[in-house]
Amino acid sequence: MLILFFNTMISIQLSAQKKSIAQKVDSVLKLMTLEEKIGQLNQYNDDWLATGPVTIDTSKGNQVRNGQVGSLLNCLGTQRTKSWQTIAMQSRLKIPLLFGQDVVHGFKTTFPIPLAEACSWDLDAMQLSARIAATEASASGINWTFAPMVDISRDPRWGRVMEGAGEDTYLGSRIAFARVKGFQGNNSGELNAVMACAKHFVGYGAAIGGRDYNSVDMSNRLLWEVYLPPFKAAVDAGVATFMNSFNDLNGVPATGNRYLQRDILKGKWSFKGFVVSDWGSIGEMINHGSVKNEYEAALSAITAGCDMDMESRNYKNNLAQLVKDNKVPVVYIDDAVKRILQKKFELGLFDDPYRFCNAEREQAALNNPEHAKAARLIASKSIVLLKNENQLLPLSKETKTIAFIGPLVKPLKQNKGFWDVEVPGVDSNFIVSQWKGLENKMGKHSKLLYAKGCDIEGDDRSGFAEAVNIAKQSDVVILSIGERRDMSGEAKSRSNINIPGVQELLLKELLATGKPVVVLINAGRPLVFDYTADNAPAILYTWWLGSEAGNAIADILFGDYNPSAKLAMSFPRSVGQVPIYYNYFNTGRPATNDENRNYNSSYNDLSIFPKYEFGYGLSYTGFKYTGLQFSNKKMKREDQITVSVTVTNTGKYAGEEIVQLYIRDKVGSFIRPVKELKDFQKLMLAAGESKTISFMIDKEKLSFYAPDPANDQQLKWVAEPGEFEIMIGASSKDIRLKDSFELVN
Ligand code: BGC
Repeated sequence: MLILFFNTMISIQLSAQKKSIAQKVDSVLKLMTLEEKIGQLNQYNDDWLATGPVTIDTSKGNQVRNGQVGSLLNCLGTQRTKSWQTIAMQSRLKIPLLFGQDVVHGFKTTFPIPLAEACSWDLDAMQLSARIAATEASASGINWTFAPMVDISRDPRWGRVMEGAGEDTYLGSRIAFARVKGFQGNNSGELNAVMACAKHFVGYGAAIGGRDYNSVDMSNRLLWEVYLPPFKAAVDAGVATFMNSFNDLNGVPATGNRYLQRDILKGKWSFKGFVVSDWGSIGEMINHGSVKNEYEAALSAITAGCDMDMESRNYKNNLAQLVKDNKVPVVYIDDAVKRILQKKFELGLFDDPYRFCNAEREQAALNNPEHAKAARLIASKSIVLLKNENQLLPLSKETKTIAFIGPLVKPLKQNKGFWDVEVPGVDSNFIVSQWKGLENKMGKHSKLLYAKGCDIEGDDRSGFAEAVNIAKQSDVVILSIGERRDMSGEAKSRSNINIPGVQELLLKELLATGKPVVVLINAGRPLVFDYTADNAPAILYTWWLGSEAGNAIADILFGDYNPSAKLAMSFPRSVGQVPIYYNYFNTGRPATNDENRNYNSSYNDLSIFPKYEFGYGLSYTGFKYTGLQFSNKKMKREDQITVSVTVTNTGKYAGEEIVQLYIRDKVGSFIRPVKELKDFQKLMLAAGESKTISFMIDKEKLSFYAPDPANDQQLKWVAEPGEFEIMIGASSKDIRLKDSFELVN
């Protein structure tokens, strides 16, 4: 028996070079018992760090040895992954484990939170940060990241907005594509790449009331037009895996949703990778009330096309019985196993299960100074200048005395934001605090004074006096306030998104000194800060910038980097405006300003417009837009036209401008939004320089999901003839030039 097994293993290895991966997968599958197959569909958390409710299980080692586990998550470092892989190599078929991890915005080197990075609109930068994260993670034993998160969200109460790319489908889709490419590199099997995972499929960002894990009720039109495209972009980029989501979509939990996983993803989109559940989401279908027990939960998930069970144990405990009971055809199990084995082959794990476990490579990758340089630049690109009265910024490096005040000036780890990775054996000293960043930058003759002023939360004002005192001794005050880093993230929904505690009261006291105050707002979501917005002369929204936060902030404050970011999410004036987004429908009674409220779609007690709109962000220089031109004012469906515009830097600093192209389809068989982003370009212009740029318009940019007259259950992707308005803007509100053209039959 043993000899037979060895011969089989040898023959797999001998023929390995010649066979295609699909053939190799088939050969392995033929050797597997049903129990071993189900083992491949089972994923456990390692024991020392958890990102969900933990199940105590002391037999994981034995289960791995028995071939009952396909993957582990939250298992970090070459030492630890190697020791688990060694156990897997003691199993009968020696099928290697996959090691998954939430490498969301960096590994050791921490980049800005994804929402911040999205504000750079810099696809190359985002691809690069994913590339570096993958380089570090893969050197540290990881071969699979649970990123990018591509959920669109219009609700800043939802704590997980920090993980995504904001509210816009077009921008979100471009970013999804770039991030997948960054994580996965050019070819599957590259040593410094990891598999990416597009999550959470789908609708999670539309949780009712912004409450995490809550239900989602959405029309088919909204699903197809707004929420699905970033996932499709991830498929187009070759994403290896998908994760389904905790929410129900129109009454069916996403995890057990066949329409989403089998019909759309694996059917219509021909996705060849595998789908992992979210943490425990198979078992949670019992709470949803869509199944009675774990047996039914496993049946529902596998039937729907969910291939791997993260942490619920429902597959492990029920699939064999379900097959025996003829409830689940073995082809479903085989298909799921094949998809997973395919990825293990592509990663080269069958050739060398330890290929991601080289301690020397790990050391080099985690200490590469180039990574810190990239993190600094990308952090600078993510900072949004919201206000700059009388050109208070940039500050002069010769400023004599600066008071640097606030609860976020000195902390290190806060700068990492949520979903950072605690790499074993690495302390926090490599993080550049905001204080350190400023200290590094200031000239010899300048003095930097510090006071904490207050805490992030609570009502203790005892530190105000010291803060006011140092403010009075200074030429400029910089105040760093905001959320705690764990106030946004998973399970961090909030009904009150104001700047917490007494921080804005501290600002009030500092402003009363008459000194100019620059406010840095650190957060994982758009916050509400009316007082600051209306009274502080200069505001930088720094989000959470990662390990180079301090240096990046200093680069911006002193003009070594000219701010270029623009908001990827609308900022409400009050939580009462939420959900808020720029691409709304006009309604039958549109309010075009806050004066004509009567019998118009408005609030009686509040503007309907955001405090800061999608696409907004200032620079130290100014830009003028002129000369909008169309190559043709009529377009046939099979044609393209170009729209060109000249942008001039009118100020005295070199700077980048994100030129945004919005389109409005004036009349549609489904009504169309007042505008939709359809393209953008980020331009670098020297002081005084002009550039003419052009955008191509084809029928893709004019199409939408319209009702299909042949089948009213279906939607059809069409460009309908008629008038289209083209708007070129510096933000979704600040439209500088516009004109129309006609799509003709
Ligand atoms: C989150 C996922 C994450 C998983 C593993 C879940 O709670 O929703 O986004 O990838 O945990 O950490």
